[in-house]
Amino acid sequence: MSTANSNRPNASIIVSDRHEGFALSAAIREEIHHEMSHYDDHRAASIEALKIVQKHHGWVPDGACAAIGEILGVPASDIEGVATFYNMIFRRPVGKYVIKVCDSIGCFLNDYEVLRAALIQKLNIQPGQTTADGRFTLLPICCLGACDKAPVLMINDDTHFNVDPGKLDALLEQYR
Ligand code: FES
Repeated sequence: MSTANSNRPNASIIVSDRHEGFALSAAIREEIHHEMSHYDDHRAASIEALKIVQKHHGWVPDGACAAIGEILGVPASDIEGVATFYNMIFRRPVGKYVIKVCDSIGCFLNDYEVLRAALIQKLNIQPGQTTADGRFTLLPICCLGACDKAPVLMINDDTHFNVDPGKLDALLEQYR
């Protein structure tokens, strides 16, 4: 029996593009320092620091892991490890909008496959890929905690419930 998560492309295992010499902006540094101030052990700010870089930069290149490590006083390899563990930290460029489709069991049993097929057809990409115009990246995601409103997907920070695969055009049109 196939499982809901089979063939899941995991953003965290995609080898990142090398991006040596990445420099954190002053704004990013300030946000990371603010986050560090909440913890005695600065290592605890690792995931938030990665999220801050991703918020500003769109994704997290290797050079950013090294730069974060310098600020936190943590080896770059440790930051890489955190970035790899959290699969919503993107290690390569993504589209302007990231569509994350829940493929956990509640959605899987409620039109996930129809929705996934419709997205693949409309976007002309496979999960894990980005459209040629850089507008959308399509990724699977685990349960979003709204199983009674399946199928569910997120587009960037927006969560959409009871998504009708037949009305995808209108939904995607909101994201230009
Ligand atoms: S299974 Fe999709 S939101 Fe829970």
